[in-house]
Amino acid sequence: MIKIGIDYYPEHWPPALWEEDAARMERLGVHVVRVAEFAWSRLEPEEGRFDFSWLDEAIAVLSRHGMKVILGTPTNCGPMWLYHDHPETLQRGRSGQPSLTGIRGHRCMQSPTFRRYAGRIVEEMARRYAGRPEIFAWQIDNELDSNHCTCPACTAGFRDYLREKYGTLEALNEAWGTVVWSGEYSAWEQISIQTEEGCLADWYNPARMLDYERYAAACTADYVRFQAELIRRYDPAAVITTNSCFPAHMPDFHQEFAPLDVASYDNYPPVRLPENPEALYSNAFALDFVRSFKQQNFWIMEQLGGPMGGWSPITPAMEPGMLEGYALQAVAHGADLISFFRWRTACTGAEMFCHGLLDHDNRPNRRLEELERLCRRLEGLPELNRTTLHSQVALLYSSEQEFALKNQRQSEGFAYWTQLRLFHNACMSLGVNVDVLPETAPLEGYRVALVPTHFITDPQVVANLETFAQAGGTVVITNRSGVKDKHGNCVLGQPLPTLLRKLCGCTVAEYDAIGPATQQITTSQGSSYRVTSWCDLLTPETAEVWARYTGRFYAGTPAITRNRFGKGWAYYVGTVGEKALYRALLLEILPRQGIPAMDMLPVGVEVTERTGPGGSYRFIFNNTLHGQSFPMNGQTVTLGAMEVLIQTGDGQWR
Ligand code: GAL
Ligand code: ZN
Repeated sequence: MIKIGIDYYPEHWPPALWEEDAARMERLGVHVVRVAEFAWSRLEPEEGRFDFSWLDEAIAVLSRHGMKVILGTPTNCGPMWLYHDHPETLQRGRSGQPSLTGIRGHRCMQSPTFRRYAGRIVEEMARRYAGRPEIFAWQIDNELDSNHCTCPACTAGFRDYLREKYGTLEALNEAWGTVVWSGEYSAWEQISIQTEEGCLADWYNPARMLDYERYAAACTADYVRFQAELIRRYDPAAVITTNSCFPAHMPDFHQEFAPLDVASYDNYPPVRLPENPEALYSNAFALDFVRSFKQQNFWIMEQLGGPMGGWSPITPAMEPGMLEGYALQAVAHGADLISFFRWRTACTGAEMFCHGLLDHDNRPNRRLEELERLCRRLEGLPELNRTTLHSQVALLYSSEQEFALKNQRQSEGFAYWTQLRLFHNACMSLGVNVDVLPETAPLEGYRVALVPTHFITDPQVVANLETFAQAGGTVVITNRSGVKDKHGNCVLGQPLPTLLRKLCGCTVAEYDAIGPATQQITTSQGSSYRVTSWCDLLTPETAEVWARYTGRFYAGTPAITRNRFGKGWAYYVGTVGEKALYRALLLEILPRQGIPAMDMLPVGVEVTERTGPGGSYRFIFNNTLHGQSFPMNGQTVTLGAMEVLIQTGDGQWR
């Protein structure tokens, strides 16, 4: 059964309310309740004095009502005594200044002092709750970002990381190309991780910045492993996760989740639906991306339960159908547990207008009714969790590209995330399941590999793609691929796309970073598309021309090519197009690979399928605020705003 959860903060409410809250949750059909992830000051009110009595009591109340608990380790929020008595536990900002307390997440994940205190509270909890039947799972910390702290411990850690990686300073100087601007290091202590406040990352040596991002992400992964190992020491059978979001400093999620049992995500899709249809499907991408972290089904640890606000102006009320629709959208992309944020809106603190399911008045409301409807609906599909998405289309992702492209902008408006989404959006618009895969993942079982911007070039990835195409697969590669080596430097004497030249059968004679300007391309079939951002001027070698530019001094020059490679194909898309371009490409590629594409889906309607021993379920979700209808398999499908229809293998609508 798909599990429904609630994020609950017993420490925010008088204990007299707990019983009533639990009874109401039970009546709704809630299975699990997440607690304690910010409660350190109540669990260890002063150094070394632990108080689990209130948590025990809250767990007992919940469990009397048939619910299990997801225990959060409270390490996101160190208590004030810790920061005061041990200021070295405070995270430091870009230019080295300690963060000021009063919000949350002030801690440095690498600080040995912090690790000692965090380790102790985690151990206390693990020892106390290990093996208890009330515990469903553990959540480590909260919404970890990449550890961009510049404290002395983090600085020393970076130097160790580099010593380990390069061995000598000569090798490091060579790899980073520090000769530029007299940046050569003659002692390890000269290497700093601080950067000038307000100064763009682009001013710093990109090779240094890339290694720094790798290091910061590795720190986060190490912090997760550290906590997971402590929990497992006492509770070897524990199911452990951490709740991800997409912060400004993105971690390397594949590395971060490697030591954990299940990936989780905090799902806050837009309440204000985009009027621009190009922006639709973005939440679908986020969900498919999260499924990639462990290449298996995942959990939603925080699901939109009410209008957001508090530290931001309050968003509009959730439209009818939105609470249920967005939750089922997550299930449609592989979620097996949905925990709603939060039970009741806080009356105090920065998030007092960040609405939960219940408002301050604590009365039954429309959102709660919708949650109840969702629970009943999922109870009618008890085998759904024994299914997952299967896909023949792989969209390759790597945090390397994320890091490198974020720190060195290529063209105004050009972003890795956008590149990924353009391809994903096109698949969604055609009702095609997509797996986001780590770049280095094996491609067996897939028919199409979409490779937007393989900027930092990995010879192993190139070899995999060649083997894949050789055997009959179709590869689609875009502009800004093959540009850099593993250190983040450009390569002397090789035309772009360097290592990908043979596979793509073309070279880049020149490029034009046009930023927000637009121009046209025309295909050999005579269709025209608007393009923007970047224009590679291509010289085909073995490839044929798929589309040409129509403007600027290079009118008539190839923009997109297609190369026969072994039994397969490699497309090179030298520019960034409007959405229709990617649809057109896929409408050519998918049928040739025997993958059905639904070109009749109205914009904003998503179709995905979960299959497995639990049966087969086709989800049809209308992610718009108006009704839609369209023909499918000889029937007319009609959907209301935000409605989700589920069709089981026997043709029944559920
Ligand atoms: C999440 C966070 C929660 C809460 C929520 C409100 O990012 O994990 O603790 O702040 O946002 O939107
Ligand atoms: Zn630090």
